[in-house]
Amino acid sequence: MTLNRLIKLTLSILFVVLFSSKSFAAGSNIENLKVDWSFAGITGKFDRSSLQRGYQVYKEVCASCHSMQYLSFRNLGEKGGPEFSEEEVKAIAAGYEVNDGPNSDGEMFTRPGRASDKFVKPYPNVNAAMAANGGAYPPDLSVIVKARSGGANYIYSLLMGYEEKPADFVLDEGVYYNKYMEGNKIKMPAPLSDDLIEYSDGTKASLDQLSKDVTTFLTWAAEPHLEARHKTGTKVIIYLILLATLVYFSMKKIWLRVDSEK
Ligand code: HEC
Repeated sequence: MTLNRLIKLTLSILFVVLFSSKSFAAGSNIENLKVDWSFAGITGKFDRSSLQRGYQVYKEVCASCHSMQYLSFRNLGEKGGPEFSEEEVKAIAAGYEVNDGPNSDGEMFTRPGRASDKFVKPYPNVNAAMAANGGAYPPDLSVIVKARSGGANYIYSLLMGYEEKPADFVLDEGVYYNKYMEGNKIKMPAPLSDDLIEYSDGTKASLDQLSKDVTTFLTWAAEPHLEARHKTGTKVIIYLILLATLVYFSMKKIWLRVDSEK
């Protein structure tokens, strides 16, 4: 391989790495809605206030059916996440009753939550969850964004995708039509609608806003180190560009000498 080709190859690889943004595959046969997420691309960062609102949506709406078993309250205060203050995290945790024990009498007891506790689950076990949801299990949402092809765009589309069913489409009792769900049938009633909750920061809670915020929150939950990873990635690319430049000029010098010796 000649030097020129080597350099061209290096540069084109760099180019691809720099400018290709992650392409999201569609989950069902229909293409997902596309959102210009602040966290997409190699320099992407989470929108802090969207993460905080997203937690509010999860807490006030989704948490009555869906667990997030890998999250602890203290994660809500960590860097790169919603970054609630220490007092806020304590207050959020204290708002829950947590099972603990056994105490010295061998009894289980409940106490107010602490920052180190895991998120409280809505149901004691899978069977209880299914019994309460017409036989369907509301999946744990900790890593759902990673678990579904289509990622964040799919989750957003799903939340926005409730529609009137086509006239000839047959739905059983307790099953709903969703444009983006596999087979268009879902046993989750539309969880969000305009002004369903009141945001504590005063943002207007449109269906679109609610869906975006909760999806942002779920994306962070599935990938809490995304911002740190993006930062490292950027540094590595700058290093590679410097290295490629250095290699280019030193090789040029060496080959110049070789040529002149012919
Ligand atoms: C009333 C209970 C209930 C509420 C509230 C609820 N869900 Fe669900 N959810 C379910 C059930 C049940 C399923 C399983 C549906 C199925 O398999 O047909 C589900 C499935 C899902 C799925 C998986 C879809 C798939 O591709 O398999 C996602 C994502 C989801 N819910 C997100 C949310 C979000 C986000 C919220 C809050 C905005 C929420 N849910 C609120 C009951 C609920």
